[in-house]
Order: sequence, then structure tokens, then C-alpha cells
Amino acid sequence: MTIETGVLERYSQGAESIQADLCCPVDYDRKLLALLPQEIIDKDYGCGDPSRYVQSGDVVLDLGSGSGKICYMAAQLVGSTGKVIGVDMNDDMLALARKYQPEMAEKLGSDRVEFVKGQIQDLALDLAAMNRHLAEHPVRRAEDVIALRAWQEQQRKEQPLIKDNSVDLVVSNCVLNLVHDSDKAQLIKEIFRVVKPGGRVAISDIVSDESVPQHLKDDQQLWSGCISGAVQEHEFLQAFIAAGFVAVSFDKWEAQPWQVVEGIEFRSVTITAIKPHDEPCLDRGHAVIYRGPFAKTYDDEGHVFLRGQRMAVCERSYNLLTGATYADQFIGIAPAQERTPQNWCHAPGTLRAASETKGSAHKADSGSCCC
Ligand SMILES: C[S@@+](CC[C@H](N)C(=O)[O-])C[C@H]1O[C@@H](n2cnc3c(N)ncnc32)[C@H](O)[C@@H]1O
Repeated sequence: MTIETGVLERYSQGAESIQADLCCPVDYDRKLLALLPQEIIDKDYGCGDPSRYVQSGDVVLDLGSGSGKICYMAAQLVGSTGKVIGVDMNDDMLALARKYQPEMAEKLGSDRVEFVKGQIQDLALDLAAMNRHLAEHPVRRAEDVIALRAWQEQQRKEQPLIKDNSVDLVVSNCVLNLVHDSDKAQLIKEIFRVVKPGGRVAISDIVSDESVPQHLKDDQQLWSGCISGAVQEHEFLQAFIAAGFVAVSFDKWEAQPWQVVEGIEFRSVTITAIKPHDEPCLDRGHAVIYRGPFAKTYDDEGHVFLRGQRMAVCERSYNLLTGATYADQFIGIAPAQERTPQNWCHAPGTLRAASETKGSAHKADSGSCCC
């Protein structure tokens, strides 16, 4: 049995009957649970609550939606202008989630939740469409495999299951750890692809405090039980930074481990991140002041912010650092007068003269830029 077939089998059992050993206690918002059918609440195999990050009007994508609990909670928060898409690769889980769709649509006042079949490491490939294709073009010979690959490539390009830059918020609850290690980087790339610039990510998952040895990874029960596929805590964050996300943080961290195996602690965390806007770095004279409490802080792009100093930043950084995510850490100071934007060329740690950011005359940039 491979990791994938082991995971498929385990969650088919989980859709059929409650698997107590897959349940990790989570303090969900009771008001949101009140609308949900009991079976969905009972077949909860999550380890956190990413629904807390949903905003009105969001298009939300839930990776590994299982019984649909997070989707139906999110659907209450997005309101009538939002939409929720749950992706799962398991037909039994999809059937369980879809079973309650009419009932939930009636309670919500509209059918704003959709469940689709796909693998979260390949969000462009529609597995339901592939099943229909295979019914007409069965794979019998090596040449059929080659043709199938070409069809898949074309589908990804022309009929992607989840389009590029189409989602405001990607959530997931205890699923990323189940993906094969060799596919995990691709999975995070896929998340980056589908989130809109400026869009957000809130992922609850299990992490380990030490690296997990191979013999534990080879244990099918431990893997499909959301334990031995867990990534080590700092590597989990690093994977999102490497994919291009910013503001990558542990928002929630369970002090108490969920499981301890051979001395390794496996605990639930929730990480949040933002996909930056794809804009050039233009200097228009903005500054930010890092409030503290540390002497200085760095971001993942290498900028340094000295406590209490007016640090020169490009407009893109200014918008990010003064947005909701960092508002309590930075004070933003807009240029007193708009000036001709220039490509950013200051070294990290460059200060912005107060004269440039207050109402008095602006000091012109030296113009001796090098980049
Ligand atoms: C631990 S359960 C979590 C379910 C749900 N998020 C919850 O909170 O109850 C994992 C779910 O992810 C699905 N899953 C696992 N690996 C997947 C993959 N690579 N692609 C899509 N779905 C996957 C499983 O079928 C299962 O429904």
C-alpha cells in the first residue's frame, strides 16, 4: 500500500463511521456549529479552526474538506456575496459533505458551497473530469498513459479545477501533513498560484518539534493518522516563505502536544500568510516606524526596521506594513507630497529624513541610484 492509498482507505472509513483516534479536540465557534448537521460535527477530523479568518464576501478554498465542516462554517461568514469551495480526493468524504448541501443551502438562504474532487498538490486537475475522460478512453497500453498525460496537461491549462489568482482565503484543517513529502513543495506552490495577490492563507495542521525518522514515516497508521507526515515546525513556515508568501506567522500554537511518539511532540498550530501584490518596488517617499518592543526587526525580503526610526520603504512595502496584518507593529508615514516614483534602490536600513515625510518642503532624492 502506498501513502496515498493508505490515506484514501483511512478516510473512506472515516466517512463511513466515526474514527475516534482521528479526532483532535478543537474549540470551534459554537454559534457556527449550531447550524451544522450532527453527522458533520461527529465526523470532524480537524485539529484547528481556520474558519476564524474568514471575512464577509471572501471566496474561500478549503483544502481536504472532509465532511465539509469548515466549509459550512465558512459559508455562514462569507455571506451571500461570498463563496466556499471544498476540495477532497476521497469520493466517500465528498459524498458525505454533499449529502447535506441542499439542507445547508436552505438554512443559509443560498447554495454558496461547492465540493470538488481533486488532489490538493495538483489543484489545476479536475479528477471528476478525469474520471469521465477515462470512462471513454480507458488506459490499457503504455501509449494510453502518454495520451492521458497530454490530456491532463491540456486540462490543467484550459480547464483548471481552481484558477490562478481566484481565491481570497485558502484554509485547511489537518490535511497538508497527509501529502507525500515529495509533493509538499508543489502543494505550497499550488496554494500560492490560486490565491489572489493580497489574498490570505490560514492553515491549521500538525507539526513536529523534531525531524521525523523514516521508520515512523513508513508506518501507514501513523501517517494516515496525521502524525508522521507532519513537517518540523520551522520548516513548515519556511516552505510558505520559499513559495513567495509574506507575513508568514504561527498565529496559534497548542502548548499541549496532541501526540508524543518516541519522544517527538506532534502539536496543532495555525499558520497565517499573505500573497504579496505583484507590483514593482517604487520609491514615492514613504516611511514606516517600527513601534518595538525589540531593538530592530527584519522581514523576509531582508529589510531592517530600527525601533522608533523613520525607515524608508517603497510604496508596496508601505501598503503591506500599514495594512491590517501589521498595523499594531508599524506606524505609516505617507509622503507629504507625491513625487515622481523611482525604482527602489536604497540599502536595507536606510532612514527617511523627517523633512520628506512632514508637511514642509521635500528633500529631492539624490538621484544617484544604482538599480
Ligand atoms: C484529517 S481529514 C480532515 C478533514 C477536514 N478538513 C476536517 O476538518 O474534518 C483529511 C481529509 O483530507 C483529504 N485528503 C488527504 N490527502 C489529500 C490530498 N492529497 N488531496 C485532497 N484531499 C486529501 C482526506 O480525504 C480527508 O477528507
